[in-house]
Amino acid sequence: MIDALERFARDFPAGSVLFEEGQPGDYMYVVLAGEVEIRRQVGETERVLAVLPPGEFFGEMAILNGRPRSATAVVRTGARLLVIEGRTFEAMLRARPEIALRIIKSLATRLESANQHVELLLLPSANHRVVQCMRHMAEEQMTLAGAQFNAGTAILVPKRIEDIAGRVGLPVHEVIDVVDRLRSARLVLLAEDAGIEGDGFIVPEVGRLLEFLEFLNLKDRFGG
Ligand code: CMP
Repeated sequence: MIDALERFARDFPAGSVLFEEGQPGDYMYVVLAGEVEIRRQVGETERVLAVLPPGEFFGEMAILNGRPRSATAVVRTGARLLVIEGRTFEAMLRARPEIALRIIKSLATRLESANQHVELLLLPSANHRVVQCMRHMAEEQMTLAGAQFNAGTAILVPKRIEDIAGRVGLPVHEVIDVVDRLRSARLVLLAEDAGIEGDGFIVPEVGRLLEFLEFLNLKDRFGG
């Protein structure tokens, strides 16, 4: 499919703002090479909602629902993108069910992750939010690695404390407090604790983290 669309391809340098939140939108984009950040203003700060690698698309929502852009798109590393006009996009969806199906699947995945996000924000304590978020991140990492889950699985998740804080809507220092308690209980290690270079955390036994989450849920339900 991509070959036939090569005539729509354009190169963009790092830092190019493709469009901004609130603008009307007439084009959708497919990432051929490089990465694009999707950012959204939340209060005073701009949050990164997603970093889209090659194969991903964006900018379809304004075309499909006729609303202003729901977020800002900025090229992170120099990128090659297909830039497809709204009318062409709609014609493609009508003519090519396999493209429509792919888009629907991606939107379902995005909805699932938005639901997880809402669930995190509704959890009652910082402990809850951070542990549940680490669990989601570990599961995402296992899916990426095509790994089978079992209770004894150890998993390295290359995410920073700031990434966790952004997802759970807590200040970084509160996340550090929770992570320090999890480290004392050996439920979680930081990559540096294990002599691994770079950012990230390790769940040495996924099963124990899930048990701890269950314990938090019970504590929340029955008090104490
Ligand atoms: P649109 O609203 O046209 O412009 C912003 C685009 O960002 C939007 O279409 C989607 O393609 C994309 N987008 C919005 N929210 C997310 C998200 N949570 N994850 C990935 N992409 C998103």
